[in-house]
Amino acid sequence: MPKKKSAPPSASGTPSSHNITSLSHEARVFKPAPEFSTAAHVKSLAAYRKLYDESIQHPDKFWSRVAKEELVWFSPFKKVLQWKEPVAKWFIGGRLNLAYNCLDRWLNTPVANKAAIIWEGEPNADGRPGEERTLTYRQLHREVCRFANVLKRHGIEKGDRVLIYLPMVPEAAIAMLACARIGAVHSVVFGGFSAQSVADRVADSGARMIITADGGYRRGATVQLKRNVDDALALKDSDGNQIAASVKSVIVLRRCCNDIHMKEARDVWWHRELEYVTPDCPAAKLDSEAPLFILYTSGSTGKPKGIFHTTAGYLLGAKLTTRLVFDLKPDDVYWCTADVGWVTGHSYVVYGPLANGGTSLMYEGAPNWPEPDRFWRIVEKYGVSILYTAPTAIRAFMKWGDEWPGKHNLKSLRLLGSVGEPINPEAWMWYHNVIGGGRCPIVDTWWQTETGAIMITPLPGAIPTKPGSATLPFFGILPEVVDDKGVEVPRNTGGKLVIRKPWPSMLRGVWGDPVRFKQTYWSEVQHSYFTGDGCRQDQDGYFWIVGRIDDVLNVAGHRIGTAEVESALVSHPSVAEAAVVGRPDELKGQALVAFVILKSGVVAKHELREELRQHVGKEIGPVAKPDDIRFAEALPKTRSGKIMRRLLKQVASGLEIKGDTTTLEDYNVLAKLAQTSE
Ligand code: WT7
Repeated sequence: MPKKKSAPPSASGTPSSHNITSLSHEARVFKPAPEFSTAAHVKSLAAYRKLYDESIQHPDKFWSRVAKEELVWFSPFKKVLQWKEPVAKWFIGGRLNLAYNCLDRWLNTPVANKAAIIWEGEPNADGRPGEERTLTYRQLHREVCRFANVLKRHGIEKGDRVLIYLPMVPEAAIAMLACARIGAVHSVVFGGFSAQSVADRVADSGARMIITADGGYRRGATVQLKRNVDDALALKDSDGNQIAASVKSVIVLRRCCNDIHMKEARDVWWHRELEYVTPDCPAAKLDSEAPLFILYTSGSTGKPKGIFHTTAGYLLGAKLTTRLVFDLKPDDVYWCTADVGWVTGHSYVVYGPLANGGTSLMYEGAPNWPEPDRFWRIVEKYGVSILYTAPTAIRAFMKWGDEWPGKHNLKSLRLLGSVGEPINPEAWMWYHNVIGGGRCPIVDTWWQTETGAIMITPLPGAIPTKPGSATLPFFGILPEVVDDKGVEVPRNTGGKLVIRKPWPSMLRGVWGDPVRFKQTYWSEVQHSYFTGDGCRQDQDGYFWIVGRIDDVLNVAGHRIGTAEVESALVSHPSVAEAAVVGRPDELKGQALVAFVILKSGVVAKHELREELRQHVGKEIGPVAKPDDIRFAEALPKTRSGKIMRRLLKQVASGLEIKGDTTTLEDYNVLAKLAQTSE
């Protein structure tokens, strides 16, 4: 059992590169339990330190060894890294296949008949229990090969982009792996995004195909995925041209038997297509740097960016972190609750677990439907041993009450993970005590869509944890907290979080926009990757992430750019101007507050608020609907016309307005704004 410590854990005389000479400074330190450490992949702080130091001082040697040990190569790489900032090429000359590394490599081993994916669907609205399916590695391999042949039959070739818009069903993983098998580039779009978002992503990526389903289930209702695709394909730009013109075919998975329209010569059924293909599909021998996927994510300006990742480096990052951070072992039942529409679903539902021969559980529905014990019921039913979820969910569970987890036997759990936003110490303690029974280590993992894999995290048998801190960097990762000039700040001082060295699973670019790539990530601080996060390091070198310092909000673990919501709002005929800021929210971390100036003549009626929320939902997706809309007469601006967001944030949070307001163009605006909150 990890002991609660108020005194320093026996300063075992292991000085470290992070100066962990003593861990006495923060309120609470949880040392790994000896029983856990003995069996863990990384067994001590000293072992972590030794490997970490090697990974930083001799990265070529470290990554070359690890890449050879972890991955199956068709041809060996000749060079570890070629770095011409900001362009990285890893494992040059190597050839491999990601689907081969996740599936074929297990076929002649005892893993072949083990569950690769255990899936449960949401219970139906009429009370029927959800469907259940288990796919062994052999079965999954077969399905992936068959579906890869379907893609080929539709003319999909290496390098072609395929958009995947599916619910949380095994077919999402099958479609991703099938693309990887033939070298097509997948772009998964979260099922909660709108038709407009689908069309924009098609246009940006030039996708030739969309893979979707007639529908998905969410809280007893069906999500109309195919209808959204139809709408997306019908959308026109301002010149009257079809936005998603590159799409030639749509493959539709039959699930809900929704009444949908199949368009001749464009739409085909997944199950029908399988009738035409064999299960033989050799894995393409792809270059290490072959593009693997594009995932769109919000930035501080403009439309979402297509973050793209390539094959070898990404796979290595996903595989290594899954095994070491979650201490994944052959008999674990591992459950990451993320949707495959986010990067967490890519790296830690699909690729990481399968590359390790693990068993990955997938659940389709919401945590509180039909009742708030849904997750705990699943943990008990399948004997889940590793659970990876988000602070926003943990805070909701806390609110719903201890009786819900209390109904179930959670003894199978041995490790808990958190991701997506800073976890407040209260939620950490609740997770530890109520869900983990005080015996499970918690790994608070910091990373991003751009980083591909976990970057700052405890290793559960090795690194003592402190509630609220993501602790120390993973192997090969060199984070620093710096000031505006890019100089490292002293301990316990806030600053910008940057990464000083390239790492294998880093993004390779913004799809089709190298200029934006350089500007966003490699220009803020010289010779460093800029994360967009604020951070401080404590005396022990532990990293405490504060949250975004750019105009990106983190609402219930979803990343939302304020600029995107603003442009959705001003696209409504009644709106003249809009500014969106975040305010702290107990459950969601941050809530979206929109200050809206209406066009003259439009009356600020209460119904208009709901109309605008719906409008944003339609433009972007339900996750981006503002929580609060405040009609204002004007926005506070500097003399140069820049909106003073700092002031708006204070108004939104109901705080007294502080700080320098001397550049405000019109002092009256502030007084009027404060009134909008009534
Ligand atoms: C942003 C990235 C890749 C994970 C899913 C979200 C925030 C993520 C943590 C954490 C504090 C965290 C950061 C980051 N974030 N994990 N453990 N502690 N903040 O991926 O949508 O690309 O968002 O999520 O602000 O920049 P994403």
